[in-house]
Amino acid sequence: METNAIEIRGLWTQFGNHIVHQDLDLTVKKGEIVSIVGGSGSGKTTLLREILGLQKPSRGTVKVLGIDIDKASASEMRRLDDRWGVLFQQGALFSALSVFDNIALPMRELHGLPESLITNAVLLKLQMAGLSPDDAVKMPADLSGGMIKRVALARALSLEPDLLFLDEPTAGLDPALSDSFVDLISGLHDELHLTVVMVSHDLDTILDLSTQIIVLADKKVVASGLPEDILRVRHPFIENFFLGNRGRKVLAGLSHLNVAKVLGGSNGK
Ligand SMILES: Nc1ncnc2c1ncn2[C@@H]1O[C@H](COP(=O)(O)OP(=O)(O)O)[C@@H](O)[C@H]1O
Ligand SMILES: [Mg+2]
Repeated sequence: METNAIEIRGLWTQFGNHIVHQDLDLTVKKGEIVSIVGGSGSGKTTLLREILGLQKPSRGTVKVLGIDIDKASASEMRRLDDRWGVLFQQGALFSALSVFDNIALPMRELHGLPESLITNAVLLKLQMAGLSPDDAVKMPADLSGGMIKRVALARALSLEPDLLFLDEPTAGLDPALSDSFVDLISGLHDELHLTVVMVSHDLDTILDLSTQIIVLADKKVVASGLPEDILRVRHPFIENFFLGNRGRKVLAGLSHLNVAKVLGGSNGK
């Protein structure tokens, strides 16, 4: 039985002359909620695409649930497809399909289940994503940004995945909606024992949810672990992101974390 959900070793990604990842290592244990942070263009989305087998790395290995993505057979990839749910940056619902049909799509594509079963499953997923059965008949054009995210989440949960990937799930949501989305993901994690990997810029989300924060910079993972581990690493991105005005405010609200102590300690005094 594999205990790691994801293992990446010696990953290189290169587009022409542009090196995006250089000898990157990363491990996600089962049951973790991992946040990947990094500047725009640091390769976060590309990394997710490589984990999902949508993009082939230039070098290195990516293993998901014990399966080497590069060497996986078509049937192994189909099995993996059944075990992960993905919410990409652009919620990407099919505009011609109702909410119901959007959520049902993965079940219809992969399994050919009886419609009665699909109906029950869709209603359950709507509820899990904080939507009501009345929303099922709506079309994407009639939904607010927050609702589109929820429908996309319901669709990501369609096949009851073990792994959930979220690319900037709260981007574009106002703070209240963003908070409720965070609560939702946290509840799902507890309830379904999911492993969650998300890319996020939202410090509140990251600090509230993560069992591991991964900082991508300089083409690799420059820091990983809990907030206190990250803050010990001296790096301009980390100082900007976690210790700018907003970051300090958020960190100050975390009672379990004595920021002054962590920072003081890192100076070796
Ligand atoms: N298919 C591609 N072809 C060429 N360059 C790409 C491709 N995909 C991503 N890139 C480049 O790789 C870098 C990382 O992109 P991305 O992973 O989207 O960053 P992030 O999600 O961290 O903002 C960017 O400079 C982007 O332009
Ligand atoms: Mg991105």
